[in-house]
Parts: sequence; C-alpha cells; structure tokens
Amino acid sequence: MQVTVYNCRAFDEKDLFMEYAKELGIDLVLCADAPNQENIFLCKGSQCVDVITSKIDADLIQAFHDNGVEYITTRTIGYDHIDLTAARACGIKVGNAPYGPNGVADYTVMLILMSIRKMEAILRRTALQDYTLAGLNGRELKDLTVGVIGTGRIGATVIRSLSGFGCRILAYDLYEKEEVKQYAAYVPLSDIWKEADVITLHTPLTEDNFHLINQETIGQMKNGVVIINTARGALIDSDALIAAIEDGRIGAAGLDVVENEFGLYYYDHKADILKNKELALFRSFPNVTVSHHMAFYTRNYVETVVKDSLMSCKYYMEGKENPWEIK
Ligand code: NAI
Repeated sequence: MQVTVYNCRAFDEKDLFMEYAKELGIDLVLCADAPNQENIFLCKGSQCVDVITSKIDADLIQAFHDNGVEYITTRTIGYDHIDLTAARACGIKVGNAPYGPNGVADYTVMLILMSIRKMEAILRRTALQDYTLAGLNGRELKDLTVGVIGTGRIGATVIRSLSGFGCRILAYDLYEKEEVKQYAAYVPLSDIWKEADVITLHTPLTEDNFHLINQETIGQMKNGVVIINTARGALIDSDALIAAIEDGRIGAAGLDVVENEFGLYYYDHKADILKNKELALFRSFPNVTVSHHMAFYTRNYVETVVKDSLMSCKYYMEGKENPWEIK
C-alpha cells in the first residue's frame, strides 16, 4: 500500500504524515514540490497520490494514469484545481478532505473587522511610527448589513459568528438552510448587491459564478461597500474590482484569494519579478488586505487533512465505502 504525497511541507506535515502512515500501514513517497512532468516518476508504484491546490490538468492526469495511479486525494475542500472530466475519462477517482469550517469562518470575520476598522492602513502607519488619526475612522458592525453569498459549511458558520455582533445579515444560496434562517434572511442576489455594506463570498467556483462580482454587479452595490473573498479568486473580476477601488465605489476589500494565484502562493518569490499586475495593485491599496490563501491554515486543519487524506487512500485501496470520494 503506497501513497505519493506531493507538496509535502517539511515544517508542519512531514512528521504527521509519517506518524499516521505508520498507524495505517501505508508506505509513503514524499515530494516537496507540486506534481509536474519532471517528478511524475515519483508516483510509479503508488495507487494513490495526495496533492494540494496546484493545477492538476488533463496532461498531468494522463501522466498519473500512465504511471498506474488510480486515486487522487486533495488535502483541500475545493477541488476545482483538478480536471475531474479528464480524471473520469481515464477511470481515476478523486477525493477531497473537508476539514472543519471554523478556521476559514474566523478568518473571514477577522477580514470583515479589519476592513471596516481600516486595519491595513492603521498597521501601515504604525510601521512608520505615524500615529495620526485622520482618515482612520471606522464603522461598527452593529450598524451594518452583511451579505453572505453561499451558506454551506463555511458561510453558515460565518453567519452564526456574525450574529453575535448584532449586524443585519442577508444570505443567498442556491439552496436555503433551515438553521441559517434563525440568524439571517434569505434574499435574492440583487437585494444583496443593493443593500449590503459588506459582501462576503463562500461558494465554490463554478462555470455559473465565474466573475460573479464584475463591473455590472458592482454597479448595483452601495457606495463604499466592503468585499471579502475567502472562497476562490475567480469569483471576482479583478480588473472591475481595481477600477471600483480606484474610483472609491468599493470602500475596502479583504482578499485571501485572487485570480491567477496558481504557482505563486506558498513559494518565496522575494527576488522574482512577478507578472501578477492585479496582485501588485491590490497590495498597493491601503484599504485592501491581501493574504496568500491561508484562511484555512490552523493546527486543526493540518492534522485533519493529513489524517483524512491518508484514510481516504486506505479506504480506496481496501475497496471500502469511501466517504471522501467525490461522486
Ligand atoms: P460548501 O459546499 O459547504 O458550501 C458551498 C455553498 O455554496 C453551498 O451551500 C452551495 O449550495 C452554494 N453555492 C454553490 N454555487 C452557488 C452559486 N452559484 N450561488 C450561490 N450559492 C452557491 O463549501 P464550504 O466548505 O462552505 O466552502 C466554500 C468555499 O470556500 C470552497 O468551495 C472553497 O472554494 C473555499 N475555501 C477557501 C479556503 C481558504 O483557505 N481561503 C479554505 C476552504 C474553502
């Protein structure tokens, strides 16, 4: 029973992988890099590979297949980085590792609070010993309407947490959830655009919601609206967001994810010239907090995804009913 683990981080995952693999009777091949055509040979002899959010496209899937891989598990909730159609076409099964929603939900609430209290600008001033107040006047959550788009595990947890702040909460999802209704009112998306002071995204990225926030939808929003994205970068048209920040229609943003982040995040690019112009602009704005797709990153997360991804491989290899497989 062998699993090849790609993107295995020495500083927090490696020891856990070795500990759990020993418990589960699994042999491991560990690779620090994302899978690519150069290191694909490392999966030879493994029925399963364990990946994170690097792009797993049709060519890579074909290469996995050619090397005998039957199951791909991703140590993430989202799996839009994996070409599922290509995987299905060659009979490779795919599983994810949903961890608790609290880490991302807490982080979302933090970004909301940072944005309405202008924390990015405050920290930039403090770093320069500029202790002035002008321009740093914040708003209180109890006076605001928050629109939550996507009320699945994370969105519903954000709503429950926000309910303690006394703000009005509007929600939108393709499917309504009874438990959410005690804290929030489900409304059409157009009402969220019109009424929310803060809009936070918690849907997966699909063909239907690509660039959900765009020039046209921003045009329907309140002046000074705050946009929070801890879901997926391509839910927002970056150019439209930048234009609206520049002309002041968007008051602030908290972006844990951005478009075109593949190959960028989780690497040290200090000495590199980056081509991501939109990211450079977002980082330049004092009313935008950017982080590198790490809302999930808690101790609880690491333990859960390492253990569950290996369990899911074990279930697959033993032919057991696998709760992590994406059907
Ligand atoms: P979930 O599957 O529990 O909830 C997603 C919700 O979105 C569902 O209720 C679904 O009905 C709804 N939905 C789907 N398409 C929609 C649409 N077009 N319009 C409105 N609602 C729609 O997923 P969960 O666990 O809450 O995660 C949400 C997203 O957060 C993930 O898909 C992932 O993209 C992102 N994420 C980001 C992380 C980070 O570190 N920044 C970590 C984990 C997840």
